[in-house]
Amino acid sequence: MANSKLGRSSFLGYPLSKLSLALLFLVGLVVAVTADDLNFPSSNTRKSHHPSKKLNKPVVLLISTDGFRFGYQFKTETPNMDLLISRGTEAKTGLIPVFPTMTFPNHYSIATGLYPAYHGIIMNKFTDPVTGEYFNLNLSPKWWLGEPLWETVMNQGLKAATMFWPGSEVPKGSWTCPKGFCKAPFNASFPLEERVDTILSYFDLPESDIPDFMTLYFDEPDKQAHQYGPDDPRITLAVAKIDKMIGRLIQGLKKRKVFGDVHVILLGDHGMVTNCDKKVIYIDDLADWVKIPADWIQAYFPVLAMNPRWGKDVENPGEKNADLVAKMNEALSSGKVENGEFLQVYLKEKLPERLHYSESTRIPPIIGMVGEGLMFKQNRTNAQECFGNHGYDNMFFSMRTIFIGHGPRFRKGKKVPSFENVQVYNIVAEILGLQPAPNNGSSLFTRSILLPFGETAQVE
Ligand SMILES: *[C@@H]1O[C@H](CO)[C@@H](O)[C@H](O)[C@H]1NC(C)=O
Ligand SMILES: *[C@@H]1O[C@H](CO)[C@@H](O)[C@H](O)[C@H]1NC(C)=O
Ligand SMILES: *[C@@H]1O[C@H](CO)[C@@H](O)[C@H](O)[C@H]1NC(C)=O
Ligand SMILES: [Zn+2]
Repeated sequence: MANSKLGRSSFLGYPLSKLSLALLFLVGLVVAVTADDLNFPSSNTRKSHHPSKKLNKPVVLLISTDGFRFGYQFKTETPNMDLLISRGTEAKTGLIPVFPTMTFPNHYSIATGLYPAYHGIIMNKFTDPVTGEYFNLNLSPKWWLGEPLWETVMNQGLKAATMFWPGSEVPKGSWTCPKGFCKAPFNASFPLEERVDTILSYFDLPESDIPDFMTLYFDEPDKQAHQYGPDDPRITLAVAKIDKMIGRLIQGLKKRKVFGDVHVILLGDHGMVTNCDKKVIYIDDLADWVKIPADWIQAYFPVLAMNPRWGKDVENPGEKNADLVAKMNEALSSGKVENGEFLQVYLKEKLPERLHYSESTRIPPIIGMVGEGLMFKQNRTNAQECFGNHGYDNMFFSMRTIFIGHGPRFRKGKKVPSFENVQVYNIVAEILGLQPAPNNGSSLFTRSILLPFGETAQVE
């Protein structure tokens, strides 16, 4: 116990003496009691007491199952997820991803609490319109803005470990992706079982060495669904496999007598929808209104990303862009373009505000919102059959994923309304007693989802 306290004795980088530490605890206790009486959690206070069996400090394990569309849990028996749900807190109609509903932007929004326009990973792959540099899952820190949880944790003197997570390989602040506590680079062949066992092995360490914050990432059921679409028997198998991994984790934690002590947050990054070749909009069909060179288009769908290269003689490219958008929308709404009603093109500043997708120079000037499950392609060649994709408007229910929280600060059997994944950063920071970096989550939100500090659910 003493060890773990001393391990946390540097708050915001200031080393504390034992005396001031003791004082802080006393003050913290008084604040906690008062705050609890008022039914407020006292945020950012270090935890001094836990009614736990083994762990004397809060530990958070953040698990992502990639592309786990909300509702997949009803495809087959998922007894282990059901256990977490019945004994924990669940977003009743799923977790809302950020736009664009792609893997890297969303995992990094979960880690930083920032919308992609502010954390810089605006798509999985993109060209920076200003520098012309191409981002393709690069690990150079200059791309990765904001402060991810593993950095917040390390900066404030706690320990973090990542068993894969997009962005976790990138050195940031006190986070160096340390050997033994940061599995890198990502390796899709590394068996899911071994990922779970790596996390479990951390609980065999002396308590002061157990990471306070851990991530665990499964690249399923996303992989299968891209290939076969969300309603294929192979997806059902992938869902069963994920549930089995959760079971392996629960058994391992129980064996170590810490299942009730660990805060397990199980979520996904986005959902999945079927794409079929009958549901396509072709650029060639817009030719009577406007000709669009292929090299102006950085991405076709689920998000159309366009950076027109006007000649040097063009004085006002902004005006030309606005003209282009108007012509495209005229064509699309003419009734003469097949499926045209399912694409709406915008200057990025004119996108609906709820998408928070304009305030970054990395976002190209023209963005098209492609209808749910629709595709946008150059021409009628390269036919593909049906498959699956995500990246669409985060308003679509099919893009939603799951959120389940289990552990001392989560109420048992509680359902909460859906919320955006930028709230997750504050939830983890609050559980660990960390000062959160500026982010797009609401500081009040944690009160609606977590039990007040000092009050804990009876989970065994
Ligand atoms: C990826 O994991 C597999 C299975 O553990 C292993 O055989 C392979 O060497 C790993 N590849 C890399 C690049 O680490
Ligand atoms: C169709 O579009 C693809 C790029 O998507 C291009 O490679 C191909 O040349 C085009 N075909 C025709 C006939 O224009
Ligand atoms: C998101 O958070 C960043 C960092 O605090 C801030 O600059 C930005 O204005 C916020 N954006 C929104 C839409 O809240
Ligand atoms: Zn994904």
